[in-house]
Amino acid sequence: MCGIVGYVGDRQALPLLMEGLRRLEYRGYDSAGVAVIVDGALAVAKRKGKVRELESVLPAPGLPGTVGIAHTRWATHGEPSDANAHPHTDATGRIGVVHNGIIENAAELRRRLTADGVVFRSDTDTEVLAHLIARRTENSLVEAVRAALGQVKGAYGIAVIDAARPEAIVAARNGGPVVVGVGDGEMFVASDASALMGHARHVAHLDDGEIAEVRADGFSVLTLEGAETTKATQALEGEVAGFDKGDHSHFMQKEIAEQPEAVRRTLLGRLDHRFNTAHLGGIELAAREMLDIRRVKILGCGSAYYAGTLGAHLIETLARIPAHAEPASEFRYRNPVIEQDTLYIAVSQSGETFDTLAAIQEVKRKGGRVLGVINAVGSTIARECGRGVYLHAGPEVAVVSTKTWTSTAVAFALLALQLGRVRDMSAAHGARLLAALSALPDQIASIVAREAEVEPLSAILARADHAYFIGRSAGYAVAMEGALKLKEVSYLHAEAYPASELKHGPLALISPETPTLAIVPNDDLLAKNLSTIAEVRTRHGPVLAVTHEGVPLDGVEASFAVPKSEPELDPILLNIPLQLLAYQVARGLGRDIDQPRNLAKSVTVE
Ligand code: F6R
Repeated sequence: MCGIVGYVGDRQALPLLMEGLRRLEYRGYDSAGVAVIVDGALAVAKRKGKVRELESVLPAPGLPGTVGIAHTRWATHGEPSDANAHPHTDATGRIGVVHNGIIENAAELRRRLTADGVVFRSDTDTEVLAHLIARRTENSLVEAVRAALGQVKGAYGIAVIDAARPEAIVAARNGGPVVVGVGDGEMFVASDASALMGHARHVAHLDDGEIAEVRADGFSVLTLEGAETTKATQALEGEVAGFDKGDHSHFMQKEIAEQPEAVRRTLLGRLDHRFNTAHLGGIELAAREMLDIRRVKILGCGSAYYAGTLGAHLIETLARIPAHAEPASEFRYRNPVIEQDTLYIAVSQSGETFDTLAAIQEVKRKGGRVLGVINAVGSTIARECGRGVYLHAGPEVAVVSTKTWTSTAVAFALLALQLGRVRDMSAAHGARLLAALSALPDQIASIVAREAEVEPLSAILARADHAYFIGRSAGYAVAMEGALKLKEVSYLHAEAYPASELKHGPLALISPETPTLAIVPNDDLLAKNLSTIAEVRTRHGPVLAVTHEGVPLDGVEASFAVPKSEPELDPILLNIPLQLLAYQVARGLGRDIDQPRNLAKSVTVE
């Protein structure tokens, strides 16, 4: 949450900072600001609202200077306002600070500084840091920041500049991601390497407890205790095109349409037709180790948790290993039992979700082994896990997950196939799954091409205030994801329920005003699903269905049929129309689709 970008070099900093902010806006978008060192003084511009609001208050000639920092905010301490926007400065306006995270002892530090005569101009925890740094007397900025951080408790990723010492940006990390970008005679700092694509050639990821002095000609890293450390850099890979909407109206629409390509990349090089299995090299598990797995526990938040729920179903069904998904945000608070023969799997698109990271750390602290299923290469969770599966879905810019949900589900199908084939799955079953996996990209493309056929369903949902999404077994994972998508982008209340549970309570709420969207695959649970639909119809509840061709759906208001796959993979296809549905409803209601209210893409606070 909150995007940070910084530049030191010989180019004008402002255009680079603004480009970085536009790319990072998905991290938070309630206010934005920039500080550039102009003729030995800090020039600061900040504004409540989106980056385009900040653009509108920048002076026409820009802020001429070659060193600067910038920030896009997702408010924690202090409501979104011009005053609370970052960068924050000390009383003299010499020190500029941008911060992602929460300083836990801010109130106490604020009291002490106020008693010392400091006048605060914002309600933020971050401003405390600017004053603390300005009061330090160390010779260098990096030492002053290090000393100030010694007084601070909490989580942070920060970047600091000092108008009196313009040669460097100081960046530090304790829980909030920070990368240093290496260019040609210029250097960058960012909360997310994606801000630097097209500019930095290499990146170095700071670890927790590290502080970097970043100059135009290089950077050095210390621990917060003051010991020097060496940092390896990695080539920055990725395409700038991922940050462009192209012909699409929204990133969400673009990313839905990109799913065939995303799935192709997730599958690339991982289908082993010789042995009718999958090959995920990054999991680093020998066949014998796979045989020893007695249980699988999948941890993730939001959509990642729902994709993990489907993943657990796939693993249990195909590999016959008991598997279960749990919200990572809850996991560590119940003092979980960690077992040696359980395989823990952390799922995260961004690789930066604090709750997921904390869950992994809890597993590792107790001696458990964790694999990551992650999209963002080199992200904190990917590094913490050390091994796992990269999705290669490409950057996902819309705040809501679409293509990464699908790619995560596909990655779980590959893992389940690989685990299954070292156990009891037959070669013939493996071959069927390989064929079905290979067919997915074209099948997804065919669904996306029929977007207009989803409109009768979205028209009904757009008129409702509440809706149920129901499904059985793996269909319930699809229902959960579909309901979340609708809530997030349309702000309509949608509740997912296992279809079998409807009669145990929620049926009381079914009325002509409350539509139920049912996931109705043509599988061995079809008769049960049709009975549930009949129960809803009897209470005069409108029913919408996402289904397969040929399913007899009497009395259903509107339906959409997806192509048939192998039964285990059907849920992946059944989810695609729900993404289109959420998009259409939100668009019809005029919502801010790519940046829904109150949300941010990467939730790096607890
Ligand atoms: C839903 C959504 C969120 C994220 C969740 C986890 O559309 O985007 O629910 O799925 O915050 O994020 P990652 O996958 O980055 O850990």
